[in-house]
Amino acid sequence: MLSKELTPRAIVEYLDQYVIGQEDAKKTLAVAVYAHYRKLSALNQKAGAIAKSNVLLIGPSGTGKTLTCETLSRLLGVPFVTADATSLAQTRFVSDEIEAMLQRLVDKAGGDVQEAGRGIVFIDEIDKLKTSTGETHATSGESVQHALLKIMECSQVKLGADRSIDTTNILFICGGAFVGLEDIMSRSKSFGFISTTEGDDKNIIERLNERVKPIDLFKFGLIPEFTGRLPIIVRFRDLTKEMLVRIMSVPKNSIYHQFREIFQSEGVELVIEQSVFEQIAEIAIEYKTGGRSLRGIFEELMTPILYIVPDHPQICRVEVKSLFEAPRYFKRGQ
Ligand SMILES: Nc1ncnc2c1ncn2[C@@H]1O[C@H](COP(=O)(O)OP(=O)(O)O)[C@@H](O)[C@H]1O
Ligand SMILES: [Mg+2]
Repeated sequence: MLSKELTPRAIVEYLDQYVIGQEDAKKTLAVAVYAHYRKLSALNQKAGAIAKSNVLLIGPSGTGKTLTCETLSRLLGVPFVTADATSLAQTRFVSDEIEAMLQRLVDKAGGDVQEAGRGIVFIDEIDKLKTSTGETHATSGESVQHALLKIMECSQVKLGADRSIDTTNILFICGGAFVGLEDIMSRSKSFGFISTTEGDDKNIIERLNERVKPIDLFKFGLIPEFTGRLPIIVRFRDLTKEMLVRIMSVPKNSIYHQFREIFQSEGVELVIEQSVFEQIAEIAIEYKTGGRSLRGIFEELMTPILYIVPDHPQICRVEVKSLFEAPRYFKRGQ
């Protein structure tokens, strides 16, 4: 199922083509996914259940959590669905919603329940399920946690009248911004070492100190049983200006490459200078939505240009030097 060549390192190299930065996250996730599917193929020979390690992704909005999971599932060729914990919490019929989510997974697997049973389910905004402080009885967030807990452990979930899906081997990845967790962590006791170095060569104590501990998540408002089901915790970091610039211009499917191709099909070369990407990145940082606002800002820049170019076949090149200057148009034979 997972080919021999697909080592954690190969997984990271694939992710690198699409996901900028987040090196630690990519590595941890690659190892987790590798281990999960290795265990599954080992299980092929024997009967029984694997000890499953579901994953929790923690990081600000727009930093690549969903993108990374989507990219991973594409590489692995396994069925993949995303769901939103807030919409699970808003319904009175949580089990119907969960059933619908698993049904979508089966649909992604072309109706093959067996295949869907090896897929990945990504549940976003899991932090919105926190129990509110001071409340003594179960809140709706907490009951959703219990409902999810059940399918994250092993269970048969009914799909309609005559079919069911076994969730034992489905990999669950939960994501959330967990605003306020940093404060909780800095209050919780560390191991008495201060991290001084950056990079790969951090020692184990340093890595442990940076780790989000189950107790932190518990204080945040996740029930202990639920955190217990998410033993692997991956942190996504805020994107720097330099990373935002790279997101727009480096990946194969980056927005710059996409627009260059649109213009190329009109016989026009589009050239956008680095400084423009930096200006866009600065605006995006002010918006505080990570990489999410880049496309909107970029398209705003492109709209007037796209409006002009198709009506002027003599234009062969467009240059943008700054957001504060009009684009320059060059005619053929000029
Ligand atoms: N690390 C990243 N590398 C490349 N693109 C990114 C990255 N982070 C965010 N983006 C861009 O921003 C969009 C939103 O990111 P997403 O993965 O949905 O964020 P979230 O962490 O909230 O799930 C992506 O579709 C992508 O275009
Ligand atoms: Mg997301």
